[in-house]
Amino acid sequence: MACARGLGWVLLSALLQPVAPWGARTDARLRQCDAPKSQSDMNSFLWTVKRTPPLPPSYLYGTIHVPYTRVWDFIPDISKRAFRNSHNVFFELDLTDPLTVSKLTSCQLLPHGENLQTLLPRDLYRRLKRHLDYVKHMMPYWMTADQRGRGLYADYLFNAIAGNWERKRPVWVMLMVNSLTEWDVRSRGTPVLDLFLAQEAERMGKTTGAVERVEEQCHPLNGLNFSQVLFALNQTLLQHEGVRAGSLQGAYTTEDLITHYNCGDLSSIIFNHDNSQLPHFINSSLPAYERTTAQQIDSYFRQELIYKRNERMARRVSALLQRNPNQTYFFAFGAGHFLGNHSVLDILRQDGYVIDHVQR
Ligand SMILES: *[C@@H]1O[C@H](CO)[C@@H](O)[C@H](O)[C@H]1NC(C)=O
Ligand SMILES: *[C@@H]1O[C@H](CO)[C@@H](O)[C@H](O)[C@H]1NC(C)=O
Ligand SMILES: *[C@@H]1O[C@H](CO)[C@@H](O)[C@H](O)[C@H]1NC(C)=O
Ligand SMILES: *[C@@H]1O[C@H](CO)[C@@H](O)[C@H](O)[C@H]1NC(C)=O
Ligand SMILES: *[C@@H]1O[C@H](CO)[C@@H](O)[C@H](O)[C@H]1NC(C)=O
Repeated sequence: MACARGLGWVLLSALLQPVAPWGARTDARLRQCDAPKSQSDMNSFLWTVKRTPPLPPSYLYGTIHVPYTRVWDFIPDISKRAFRNSHNVFFELDLTDPLTVSKLTSCQLLPHGENLQTLLPRDLYRRLKRHLDYVKHMMPYWMTADQRGRGLYADYLFNAIAGNWERKRPVWVMLMVNSLTEWDVRSRGTPVLDLFLAQEAERMGKTTGAVERVEEQCHPLNGLNFSQVLFALNQTLLQHEGVRAGSLQGAYTTEDLITHYNCGDLSSIIFNHDNSQLPHFINSSLPAYERTTAQQIDSYFRQELIYKRNERMARRVSALLQRNPNQTYFFAFGAGHFLGNHSVLDILRQDGYVIDHVQR
């Protein structure tokens, strides 16, 4: 049960966190950073919300949705200390509530009686089915010995990620296809950093909570219209078919993301809102009318999934701080919410909060 819940949540966040890798282009050659030699070499994704003494400070922390073991040693002690010293730890969603996953599951489903086979154009449905059959076939080869050693089975993993796909709304199937890459499959089973922090917070007996509800993350995705969704699904399949056929480079973008996170490279394009969490459809070789659709989808997502969510998150952070001024809070959200235009930091500063980046 715990395992299934973990996977469900991993899926949810992989789909929704602005730092997820889909938007990044593989052709931008990214510099590597050296492993930090000392604490003073490390950069942080930690910001302090200053309060007038004797009120204690609170913290904003940018997480990343990759296995925590890949980044933990690069996180400076000062960030870990802020986490340990905060009695209240708040995330985007309430990860400790089993309802979180069941609500998400129902939000992703088509209305009763509908399924993708009848909904999608025949050709698109066939390509989707062929691609998922391929993934299912590859799953045992993609899995690592370590995953098998921990009792994960390929069938179980496939079902946990893609089971019941014919009943899902096409926008969710599109996101699911995007997350079914070899790299993503190989990293399943190790808690991602945000989940790890939630588990640690629970283990340490902290008060945990969330600033968003599942519906608030989920509903905007269901707001694209049918022709936009078909376009997005078609483009996503084209990309993955290209990778399958060897004509497109596979997405190593998660590796790039980890490098940038570990380098603490705040200005990096990869975290920029130009590379938000969704598949990147704006492709200069698209015909003009398709490029227009791509741009409409892109600005819809940016508005609904970044700017609006940043505003809501900032409002709820502010409400919690006002309500419990004597308490120390540690807010752990996807790093993308603290970067770029109209970030949670910008909005809180406009509200009069004094927020400093903790350098080291
Ligand atoms: C979908 O939305 C786009 C952008 O708002 C619009 O141009 C298009 O006509 C809509 N299509 C349908 C089928 O509603
Ligand atoms: C998918 O996209 C390609 C290229 O943009 C286009 O030629 C094709 O007609 C599209 N297929 C569907 C089913 O929309
Ligand atoms: C851009 O779109 C064209 C036509 O749909 C496709 O052949 C090509 O692979 C795409 N390029 C990328 C990087 O997705
Ligand atoms: C906050 O703490 C101070 C001193 O520690 C106390 O005087 C004050 O009543 C507290 N305020 C609230 C709202 O708990
Ligand atoms: C910054 O964000 C706002 C949305 O609140 C948008 O209207 C504006 O165009 C953005 N500016 C840039 C340079 O992206």
